[in-house]
Amino acid sequence: KKVGVLISGSGTNLQALINATQDSTQHLGAEIVLVISNIPDVEGLKRAERAGIASKVLSHKDYRNRVDFDMALNKELTIAGVEIVCLAGFMRILSVDFCEKWRGRLINVHPALLPLFKGTHAQRQALEAGVRVSGCTVHFVEPDVDAGAIIVQETVPIEVYDTEESLIERIKTAEHKAFPKALKLLATGKVRLGSDKKIFWC
Ligand code: GRF
Repeated sequence: KKVGVLISGSGTNLQALINATQDSTQHLGAEIVLVISNIPDVEGLKRAERAGIASKVLSHKDYRNRVDFDMALNKELTIAGVEIVCLAGFMRILSVDFCEKWRGRLINVHPALLPLFKGTHAQRQALEAGVRVSGCTVHFVEPDVDAGAIIVQETVPIEVYDTEESLIERIKTAEHKAFPKALKLLATGKVRLGSDKKIFWC
């Protein structure tokens, strides 16, 4: 399956997806054909370049509104023949139209065990709540933020000495395992989204 990855920053999750898709022993059934960043000059774009993957900057600032920006995104993905879209630290909310167009083919990684700690600073939210485990979630994207059927979750312990930074790093390590695992499940047809928006294991 042809995959497009949307990023906004350092792209360590993109790197994990690149490594997994380019490793023929992992049989991901997926190839990244396009990386799009809404922010110029981010490290993630250099990762794409180093891996020989086409990349593009689409700055949301160049568009009048969210819908126009999302239409431009959709156009680039369609031209590249993308079949699955991965949100890997993409810090823009996508419009209802975009989510519906790509429903069942659009997945996101979130740094908490959903449905807990939605939105930004999920790791800080976990620390403030005093929970002793957290983790990450890869899920199908629905128009509501961090909603949608869950494909893979990985837990991580929260240590008493953790800071926000140390927890961010530990959860990222879990994301780098969970995201390729979820992409493989989707690309190889082991999982799909039913018309009732519930997960369907094949
Ligand atoms: C990840 O923690 C992801 O869950 C969140 O943004 C971060 C992106 O990190 N949505 P990176 O750009 O993949 O390093």
